[in-house]
Amino acid sequence: MCGIVGYIGGQQAAPLLLEGLGRLEHRGYDSAGVAVLGGGTGRSTVRIARRAGRVRDLAESLPARFAGRCGIGHTRWATHGPATDANAHPHTDASGRVAVVHNGILDNAGLLRRRLTEEGVELTSETDTEVLAHLVARSVAPTLEGRVAEALALVEGTWGLAVLHADFPDRVVVARNGSPLLIGVGDKEMHVASDLAALVRYTTTVAHLEDGEMATLTATGFTTYRQDLTATATTARVLEVDPASYDAGEHESFMRKEMLEQPAAAERVLRGRLDDRFATAHLGGLGLDAREARAVRRVKILGCGSAYYVGQMGASLIEELARVPADAEAASEFRYRNPVIDPDTLYVAVSQSGETVDTLLAVQEIRRKGGRVVGLVNVVGSAVARECDGGLYLHAGPEVAVASTKALTTMFLGFALLALQLARVRDLSIAEGRRLVDALRALPEQIAEVLDTEADLVAVAKELAEAESLFFVGRVRGFPVAREGAQKFKEISYRHAEAYQTSELKHGPLALISPAVPTVAIVPDDELVERNVAALHEIAARGGPLVVLTHAGVDLGDLAATRIDVPRSERELDPILLTIPLQVLAYHAAAHLGHDVDKPRNLAKSVTVE
Ligand code: F6R
Repeated sequence: MCGIVGYIGGQQAAPLLLEGLGRLEHRGYDSAGVAVLGGGTGRSTVRIARRAGRVRDLAESLPARFAGRCGIGHTRWATHGPATDANAHPHTDASGRVAVVHNGILDNAGLLRRRLTEEGVELTSETDTEVLAHLVARSVAPTLEGRVAEALALVEGTWGLAVLHADFPDRVVVARNGSPLLIGVGDKEMHVASDLAALVRYTTTVAHLEDGEMATLTATGFTTYRQDLTATATTARVLEVDPASYDAGEHESFMRKEMLEQPAAAERVLRGRLDDRFATAHLGGLGLDAREARAVRRVKILGCGSAYYVGQMGASLIEELARVPADAEAASEFRYRNPVIDPDTLYVAVSQSGETVDTLLAVQEIRRKGGRVVGLVNVVGSAVARECDGGLYLHAGPEVAVASTKALTTMFLGFALLALQLARVRDLSIAEGRRLVDALRALPEQIAEVLDTEADLVAVAKELAEAESLFFVGRVRGFPVAREGAQKFKEISYRHAEAYQTSELKHGPLALISPAVPTVAIVPDDELVERNVAALHEIAARGGPLVVLTHAGVDLGDLAATRIDVPRSERELDPILLTIPLQVLAYHAAAHLGHDVDKPRNLAKSVTVE
């Protein structure tokens, strides 16, 4: 959420900053800005350009003279104050000699704003960040490092930030506390960014700052230190990343690219983790030996948004296979209700970004109370991954589209592996284990089969897009599928899509069914199929149009419905194959409505604010 870039070296900074911001735009896209240090051999000056709108709007409006070999930039997702030119970063002080870009939230900004105003400072934005620019400018410490550290000592909250100062033109000072910041080492040039996506085109030699750390970047290197200015030993290492995986390539959007990458992502998350001999899964990174795995009395899964819904799918898998009570809860709610932390419960945090602050704070709360947390995380080295006692990486590859697709699929498979491992140290027989191992192996191919039906789904998607309001319904294993389907649909099409348990419709929502309100129903060929079909008749009898996701051979009788058959897996694993067409429907509905599917309104990738 929000993106930071910075550069110091021999090249012109502005084009590099704009290119980097373009790559971070999924992190926030309501306003953007850059600041460069210019002035040649004379007295240095800070030049700032910022405005509401997209990075391309900023690029088009950049003054012709915007030269400088050192600069910082920001793309914003508004927290304090609406998306206006004045609220866009970088922020500056009255003298205009300091520029600050900031991700995160300063909790005591209100108090500091009042104090500054009382002392005669004229604040020109509604943001929390602006106070930092004034605090840095008011410090009289002899170094820029000292000034930034003094300013940070006065603020409370979270930050990833970068500071330029015209009096110290040979450096950029950066700091991290709860919001990621990475330093990229180039050839006589240094980069900084809040996300690898903005660095990989220039360098894959990267240092990750820790919380509480600061760094100084000059054209020739970087040094790291704590906020009390004592040195730290953070070093850069070469990351194994393919820069091309951060590009949409020939695809019209990242979301479509990422949907199509699901078979490959599914293969990666399974690779090396299935054991044919004992028909189980090996998740060494969990750090749970057989005895500890047997001692688990309960599993509690925590995530947000789609990660929470796939967590519900995971809870179902674990409870069914391992016969351990399991449930999922929104991490954003869990941490505010003073939860009882039980030593015999295995807590599982699930997150694509590993940065979602609600998930991170839930993990910290559990660990603070002595609980054991493992993580299912995509981004290697991310905050959630680092906070957990163990876990497994999802290997989905970079996910750029705001709407999660391939990460979600790998999360489901991660849960299936975890369920299998827990089940096989308990009562699941080797024959049953084998049934699941074989079914898991077949999934990547089956996911590809579903994606191959994309063309058939376009017409259905267009019809659904015409409705102002829709239901997505399912039962038991199918209910989280319906929740995820509704989430994807509303997120990118902006249609009202409500998920409900099929069994609960008659207790209220049936009142809303009409020819104008279609229902997308999840009806796998399982033990509930007849009941599900009966409930669909109740919808049809009230004139509600139906789209039914089901399996070949399921008899829908004389039900007037658009039928979408998906390949069969084992019934515990069916939910993921039923989820994929819902992504495709959401995608084509949004595309049909002319929306930017990668950057849905009001949202941003990675929610790093509470
Ligand atoms: C929906 C979506 C969000 C995320 C949620 C958690 O398509 O992407 O609901 O799933 O914000 O994000 P992570 O997984 O990064 O913790």
